Amino acid sequence: MPRRADALIPLSWDHHATLMVVRTILRTLDGDARFGQPCPDRMREMVNHLWEEKLQGHFDDEESVFGTAARATRDDTLIDMAARLAQEHAAIAAAVLRLERASPDELAARLETVANLLDQHVRWEERTFFPALERSLPESTLQDLGIQLVGRRTKQGRGSTREGLAVRGELFPGS
Ligand SMILES: [Fe+2]
Repeated sequence: MPRRADALIPLSWDHHATLMVVRTILRTLDGDARFGQPCPDRMREMVNHLWEEKLQGHFDDEESVFGTAARATRDDTLIDMAARLAQEHAAIAAAVLRLERASPDELAARLETVANLLDQHVRWEERTFFPALERSLPESTLQDLGIQLVGRRTKQGRGSTREGLAVRGELFPGS
């Protein structure tokens, strides 16, 4: 697991949880016996649960806090990344909606589409967007953004004590 700025740790935790779901879907569809018989209906509900409980708020957090900060830098690369962030979030939201409305025949293909979009998007954020924020934003700005992130989540009933400790640098002191 790469060293991540404290401010971004709650989002990275969401990413790891998301990738576990993505891997489960892709391996199940691929016929990996360790994941049991494919049951597309159950996997759709798992995606709906992930979307409602985690991803919707996560996307809002990223765009409102870190997308806004990226645009405010007036750095063209970061501004382009903020635009890509919002476009990919919209594409994933649309794919989740299409999955929800899929007929039994369409279900497996739409599950695979959502899983692949999530996989590529999360990897882009972890490998490209987050490192760009870490390189470009001053440490104090990143810290403020982390506090803002946890503040939003707490206000909306999505926060956790552990996330608060993480963004304040108290969970992994000196790391
Ligand atoms: Fe994300």
